[in-house]
Amino acid sequence: MSAVVIVGAQWGDEGKGKVIDFLAQQADMVVRHQGGNNAGHTVVVGEEEFRLHLIPSGILYGDKWCVIGAGVVIDPRVLLEEIDYLGRRGIASDHLRIASQAHLIMPYHARLDALSEDRLGAHKLGTTLRGIGPAYMDKAARIGLRVGELMHPATLATRLQRVLEEKNRLLARAYDVEGFAYDEVLETYLGYGEQLRPYLANTALLINQAIDRGDRVLFEGAQGTMLDIDHGTYPFVTSSHPVAGGACIGAGVGPTKISQVYGVVKAYTSRVGDGPFPTELRNALGSDIRDRGHEYGTTTGRPRRIGWLDAVALRHAARVNGFTGIAVTRLDVLDMLEEVKIAVAYRYHGERIDEFPDHAEGLDDVEPEYETLPGWQTPIGAVRKYADLPVAARHYLERISTLIGVPMVLVSVGRERANTIPLQPLF
Ligand code: IMP
Repeated sequence: MSAVVIVGAQWGDEGKGKVIDFLAQQADMVVRHQGGNNAGHTVVVGEEEFRLHLIPSGILYGDKWCVIGAGVVIDPRVLLEEIDYLGRRGIASDHLRIASQAHLIMPYHARLDALSEDRLGAHKLGTTLRGIGPAYMDKAARIGLRVGELMHPATLATRLQRVLEEKNRLLARAYDVEGFAYDEVLETYLGYGEQLRPYLANTALLINQAIDRGDRVLFEGAQGTMLDIDHGTYPFVTSSHPVAGGACIGAGVGPTKISQVYGVVKAYTSRVGDGPFPTELRNALGSDIRDRGHEYGTTTGRPRRIGWLDAVALRHAARVNGFTGIAVTRLDVLDMLEEVKIAVAYRYHGERIDEFPDHAEGLDDVEPEYETLPGWQTPIGAVRKYADLPVAARHYLERISTLIGVPMVLVSVGRERANTIPLQPLF
């Protein structure tokens, strides 16, 4: 049995796409289980760069089953565009399967996301404006529409009518904007349904069967632990469960079936969107790292906020995910620094805090306590063996692993598949 969950250990954008792409080489099936097209993976294959938001990046290999599970919220327009984009670049999506229970992102979800952010003004969450929150709200309120319903026009028509009436009333009365025309939405979504029909499947069954027959199944997490709706920096979080347990819920597999949980840890920290960020570097060094690391959102193009590595937050991540290993990415971005820092504790009103607080409110005021290590000041992109990394780089990596209490299983030193140093078999 070999089922590996990959999750982001920080605030997303840890370089999961790269690690997942690397592991997907050995996988038979790659599964997305939460989030939606708020995610964005950039995968570099040779000279080519692929940007994916919904379809598991395993699709680039051609022979892997790629599954979008029930816990994902799907904007069918975006999904169809992605299938089309891959097709134009010579990549077939015939190994793609989609859960009929996955909820649909409807046009009113994106509209309400934008209106709500606008109204929050200075208190906005900084969402990706893709309608993710409103779609999960409807799911929890049991007024969501699911992909499978697109195959049943009569049911869809009745449910859509009821929901749309309510949404249009909300748009008109709460926000004073025009609503959506029922006929148009129905026709558009039925059209999407026809195009998605070949991909629909009982995905929980497929995934469990694959695990049971000994296939290698990879669960591709989106976003990151600190954006988890329960275990992240609420309310500055996304609306799903990026933590490892989210894979079980969103894909429909029992926790006993998961063999490994790897946390992807970027060698520094970034955050896109609002909310607390204790180790943020609001200075020239932060801008330098942003530029060296091309830290601009894959989905929204927003500049990411940059900071030092935060071992306090990472210890929390290791705990709530149950990491069995960490993959450290983007180490090369720090190549030129004279020294690197790691937050090992926080200070709050003069008191030392060793563990991540269970409420985000105080986080704005904490002062990180840093440990400073020497930089390696040499390019490491061409290194292929751990032993060939500069001593200072190895020292930094080993310190991270010790501070979090989790073994390191892989190091990434560049954007391409080849710039990867695996330290042990990963499946
Ligand atoms: P939402 O997921 O669009 O509702 O956005 C909620 C928060 O999660 C915002 O701070 C977003 O910037 C952040 N977020 C959502 N998806 C990602 C991602 O894939 N990477 C990094 N941040 C994300």
